[in-house]
Amino acid sequence: MRMRLIHRRKEKMIMSKRKRSIINILMRVCIGLMMISSAVPPVFSQGEDTYLLPENPMTGADIFFKKGCIECHTVWGIGKTFGPDLTQIGMEKDFFKLSGALWSHSPKMINIMEEKGIEKPVFSPQEIEALLAYIYYLGLIDELGDYLRGEEIFTNKGCSRCHSLGGSPEKAGPNLDKYGRYVSPVYIVTALWNHSATVSQAMLNQSFTPREMCHLLAFIKGNAANPEGKTVYIQPGSPRKGQKVFMEKRCVSCHSQQNLDLQESDLQKSLTEIVGMMWNHSSSMWQEMKSRNLTIPRFDVGEMSDLTAYLYFISFYGKKGNPTRGEVIFKEKGCFSCHSKEAIDAGKGIDLKDIPRSSFLELISAMWNHAPEMEKMVTEMNLTWPRFEKNEMKDLISYIQSMK
Ligand code: HEC
Ligand code: HEC
Ligand code: HEC
Ligand code: HEC
Repeated sequence: MRMRLIHRRKEKMIMSKRKRSIINILMRVCIGLMMISSAVPPVFSQGEDTYLLPENPMTGADIFFKKGCIECHTVWGIGKTFGPDLTQIGMEKDFFKLSGALWSHSPKMINIMEEKGIEKPVFSPQEIEALLAYIYYLGLIDELGDYLRGEEIFTNKGCSRCHSLGGSPEKAGPNLDKYGRYVSPVYIVTALWNHSATVSQAMLNQSFTPREMCHLLAFIKGNAANPEGKTVYIQPGSPRKGQKVFMEKRCVSCHSQQNLDLQESDLQKSLTEIVGMMWNHSSSMWQEMKSRNLTIPRFDVGEMSDLTAYLYFISFYGKKGNPTRGEVIFKEKGCFSCHSKEAIDAGKGIDLKDIPRSSFLELISAMWNHAPEMEKMVTEMNLTWPRFEKNEMKDLISYIQSMK
């Protein structure tokens, strides 16, 4: 009897052990699936390389300081003014255009650096990526709005009918004082977005031109009661996390490469402009969502911040380069005079087929790191320094990659 009991207990223990291990396996599968579903796909591929969006574009700020860019360039009014201000350049140029601009200007930079005794910076591929991601990212941050224009909007768009500010008497909608302490407009745009689907038609019918939201915020800041003088900053948005938000909130169910491709939209704009674009399209978006039984997504402030960073970074790498065009550029820009078979045979060239590096980040950093040497040769041989515009750098790199 006793033996049997022990036996049974043992059996039970074995059972529960087995159960536990099954549960364990199931849990692992679940976690695995969750990890797969939360992993973001690469946004750009060329040759064998695939690229993810940056996790935190602010890491490049450190490189911008350490490599001495700040000795000649200003961002947000900080830095020296030997070179142009770079605060807004990300709005016009993507990764490849920025690297083209950097390359095109390098003889002038090198000259000033030599005069001033600044050491010419050398970059690893990762550093180039981080640095350009940072410069690009600056364009997403809104410039300060105009108080007087904000006041006009607050009245003309009817906000003042329903919302009080500072000491003014309470109205139908909530008092907006708390928005006065936020540095970033992301708080107010998130609140507006979350309310716009449920609140009054009056708010829903509002559309905003790009800068209006910033002006509005400048006015609200100027008028809000903020007795403790509190200021709230936000962690800068992460493009990679934003890509996850985009997937989780089911934006992908309508926007893909095949359908309503957002890469075709010009989203290389500031945060409030991007939300403005979402907002202005919201009635057709919401209709479409209703017909598909999707609920209108709500966001917390962090999610909105990441999402807009993602939307902004959709254009970071852009589309693939064109190697055929790249070959023409290679000839036109005089790369041929040092990297052709004749030049190599004459002992004064380098065969780019043989170089061990091949990803575009490696090629761009290699070109940059060799620029001083090339510059000397270019001067000696009486050639002009090749400059790159538009997508020329991208096409050129894809041609060099195709040589292999
Ligand atoms: C010694 C001064 C100096 C330093 C240091 C310097 N630059 Fe420049 N940079 C210039 C000048 C001058 C120009 C404008 C050149 C021209 O017009 O040809 C320029 C132009 C540029 C441009 C193109 C701007 C445009 O509007 O097309 C970019 C991008 C740039 N620099 C980025 C950088 C980065 C990144 C660093 C740090 C690695 C850096 N620069 C370091 C002087 C400098
Ligand atoms: C017809 C009245 C009405 C008008 C006009 C209106 N709002 Fe609202 N608003 C509301 C109401 C009511 C709420 C609260 C809704 C809720 O809590 O769900 C609200 C909520 C908000 C919120 C979120 C407040 C919070 O802290 O939760 C913001 C921000 C806001 N409105 C800004 C604006 C701006 C900016 C305008 C002008 C463009 C505007 N509203 C126009 C009625 C209005
Ligand atoms: C049910 C389908 C659907 C879903 C889900 C959806 N959208 Fe849209 N989206 C649309 C439609 C339709 C348009 C309008 C296209 C037009 O007018 O050209 C649009 C337009 C946009 C635009 C403006 C594009 C432009 O060129 O001006 C942005 C930005 C955008 N959507 C972002 C998002 C984000 C972010 C999400 C997820 C939170 C999302 N969409 C979810 C259907 C959808
Ligand atoms: C005046 C001669 C000259 C011209 C013109 C020239 N290069 Fe070079 N290039 C060189 C030399 C020399 C090196 C090798 C430098 C070294 O190894 O330190 C080099 C190196 C390179 C490298 C790096 C190879 C490696 O080792 O990783 C690339 C990429 C490159 N060049 C591309 C180009 C492109 C693209 C052009 C046209 C825009 C061009 N070069 C124009 C002389 C030139």
